[in-house]
Amino acid sequence: MTRELSVVIPTFNERDNVEALIDRLATVLDGLSWEVVFVDDDSPDGTADAVAAIATRDDRVRCIRRIGRRGLSAACIEGILSVSAPYVAVMDADLQHDEALLPRMLEALKPGAVDIAIGSRYAKGGGVGDWASDRAAISRFATRLGRMVIKADLEDPMSGFFMVERHAFLQSVRHMSGTGFKILLDLFASSPRPLRFVELPYTFRRRHAGESKLDTMVAWEYLMLLGEKLFGGWIPVRFVLFVGVGALGLVVHLAVLGGLLKGPGLSFPISQTAAVIIAMTFNFIVNNVFTYHDKRLKGLGFLRGLISFYAACSLGALINLAVAIYLFDAGSPWWLAGAAGAVVGAVWNYAITATFTWKSERKGE
Ligand code: GDD
Ligand code: MN
Repeated sequence: MTRELSVVIPTFNERDNVEALIDRLATVLDGLSWEVVFVDDDSPDGTADAVAAIATRDDRVRCIRRIGRRGLSAACIEGILSVSAPYVAVMDADLQHDEALLPRMLEALKPGAVDIAIGSRYAKGGGVGDWASDRAAISRFATRLGRMVIKADLEDPMSGFFMVERHAFLQSVRHMSGTGFKILLDLFASSPRPLRFVELPYTFRRRHAGESKLDTMVAWEYLMLLGEKLFGGWIPVRFVLFVGVGALGLVVHLAVLGGLLKGPGLSFPISQTAAVIIAMTFNFIVNNVFTYHDKRLKGLGFLRGLISFYAACSLGALINLAVAIYLFDAGSPWWLAGAAGAVVGAVWNYAITATFTWKSERKGE
């Protein structure tokens, strides 16, 4: 029997949920030809070993192991790319998603009238179970924001539970950002044509074992994803953040400069030097936490990054000066020459630090 369905499950520290989940899948998908693909980001709790133990006796089960990388969306994308069944489902490992929906999703897709069937907590008949009211409110707010970015009128664009026709996914995948938790939203926002969808209500359950990985950084990643989808077409979100941090750095610079001149009454050259060093360090730290939160440098890498950041920015300042002086001498008004120097300097700083300070490939956590 040719395989109809692949279920992709991203995991990070879900060892104690693996077996129960596979049992449930086997029950609801009985009679179908299916497989389940776990995509594990090197969980320290040995999730991949728990999957492997079952995979040795059940060839419907396999595990993709990613080393030195993290990310729910990116893991799902890799899992989906690894399968060949015509329909692919994505669901969480912690049994919060109602697996009983899977056969109904498949039935909804098979006639070919829709591209994707979504498990929805906010469609009529669905629910978020016994969530605390603040989590429910945050989720509703994030849902509203998400709806602004995608063209489709989805009740639950933040759902992590859906089944998609594989080719429809493949049409979008090269445009997807792959950052953060919100793969469904990413998929809708990245599709070259409107996706035809249906939402099936279900009630979000309590997590079976282990704990949630959703934290404030996930919320930040979500905002970055929205920004990228809104403006990313013409200007990278990271560049906007980088410039914003730079503007804050200028405020820090002036505060330190003024403080040292007026307070201890240090000379201008000494105060200015101190202000430059403090502002650069401030910029590095803030960019490291926010702009590059997904590539955050720690330990020795932090020191190395700081030094390369100083070097890049010093050169950036020289280029800034060279451009400004050249334009000024050529007759540009002072504000145009000054602004042009600053823009060229900022682009330089961004380009060089993106390449050398926060390199694109990550080695380990
Ligand atoms: N491979 C991999 N890498 N898997 C991850 C990672 C990661 O970095 N982070 C989380 N996961 C896995 C978890 O192991 C789990 O199977 C699934 O992704 C969801 O993670 P949870 O930590 O349980 O998230 P949640 O329950 O708070 O959020 C869920 O509900 C949200 C709606 O409120 C997810 O389904 C979200 O996608 C969804 O938006
Ligand atoms: Mn969960």
